[in-house]
Amino acid sequence: MSKQENILQQQLTEREEKGLLRKLTNLNLPFDFCSNDYLGFARSEELQKNIEQEVKKHKTKNGAGGSRLLSGNTAYTEETEQFIADFHQAESGLIFNSGYDANIGLLSSVPQRGDTIISDELIHASLIDGIRLSHANRLKFKHNNTDDLENKLKTTLGNRFVVVESVYSMNGDTAPLVEIAKICKQYNANLIVDEAHSTGIFGRQGRGLVQQLNLEKEVFASVVTFGKALGIHGAIVLGSSILRDYLINFSRSFIYTTAAPLHNIIAVKKAYLMLAQSDKHLLINKKIELYNQLIQPIKQCITPSDSAIQTIVFNNNKSTKAAAQHLQQNGFDVKAILSPTVPEGAERLRICLHTYNSDEEIKELVNHLKNIH
Ligand SMILES: Cc1ncc(COP(=O)(O)O)c(C=O)c1O
Repeated sequence: MSKQENILQQQLTEREEKGLLRKLTNLNLPFDFCSNDYLGFARSEELQKNIEQEVKKHKTKNGAGGSRLLSGNTAYTEETEQFIADFHQAESGLIFNSGYDANIGLLSSVPQRGDTIISDELIHASLIDGIRLSHANRLKFKHNNTDDLENKLKTTLGNRFVVVESVYSMNGDTAPLVEIAKICKQYNANLIVDEAHSTGIFGRQGRGLVQQLNLEKEVFASVVTFGKALGIHGAIVLGSSILRDYLINFSRSFIYTTAAPLHNIIAVKKAYLMLAQSDKHLLINKKIELYNQLIQPIKQCITPSDSAIQTIVFNNNKSTKAAAQHLQQNGFDVKAILSPTVPEGAERLRICLHTYNSDEEIKELVNHLKNIH
């Protein structure tokens, strides 16, 4: 083992001793309560067929051959961007290779030195990393606490950006977006909303929480990821056409990377068409309702959520891990979210609901959860 490998091994051993070593698994359990494929699009044969037919029509190349600014752009990509922007009632959109890329590209480039970014303390790592790459000042406000947000806005000057998620990925709870938008307007701050987990669940035909609350005009930029309810891969930043032009010029995770191959873009377009035409967003909401009804008796252990992400909070890593193991042994793919990913004492099971989880599966899962507690 080289000196450097020794340093790495020591850190891995430390993690293992704390019971926190991350490992890739391939459990393949029968009941999926773990993936972000909320509407079943990732496994939809109909969507697969639609994509294949369109790919054949376009005789796509295997790869884009370069970045969007070199050989990787196509008319189809730009049409798809506008189609998605229209769907979400935004002026413009720019596709990135992933939600991670979109968030770091947006936040590292738009807020400038001297500006201030004020973000909810529970935002996703991709937003945090984008903020870290920015030269702007940074502040956090307490989770979903609009008083704290307002205080932070009162005590800062200059150009402010407020960064939130519609649905928080580790809690499943929604942001008080109406109030946040109102405060942003009052203090002339730019609101950025990550809609990763609300697309497909909230709003007309799954347009997201921003649309459901009629806030399209109040938002400076929103990010929609395609790897959750849309079942595909990639993301789009929605906003004004000036924002789009700016990102094409200054967003490094857009500029310095090979564009997604055309078949990916076709998959995105077909997934959106399916979302626009299907009633799967209604079905997922029925599943969420059923789960919430059934889970009532152990209500004190859950954080309330009307999204597809549900949690059962334990107070330590050991019992959370044991609970996840018990469920996995019974065929339920449920993952434990441990500290330090979440604060100590708030370790939890994260349960994702899907259109393809039968009512019986959900009932059975809840029975197990009641027995564990
Ligand atoms: C809130 C949120 N934003 C962004 C991302 C990143 O999206 P992607 O998986 O497309 O990189 C995720 C993914 O886990 C997420 O939960």
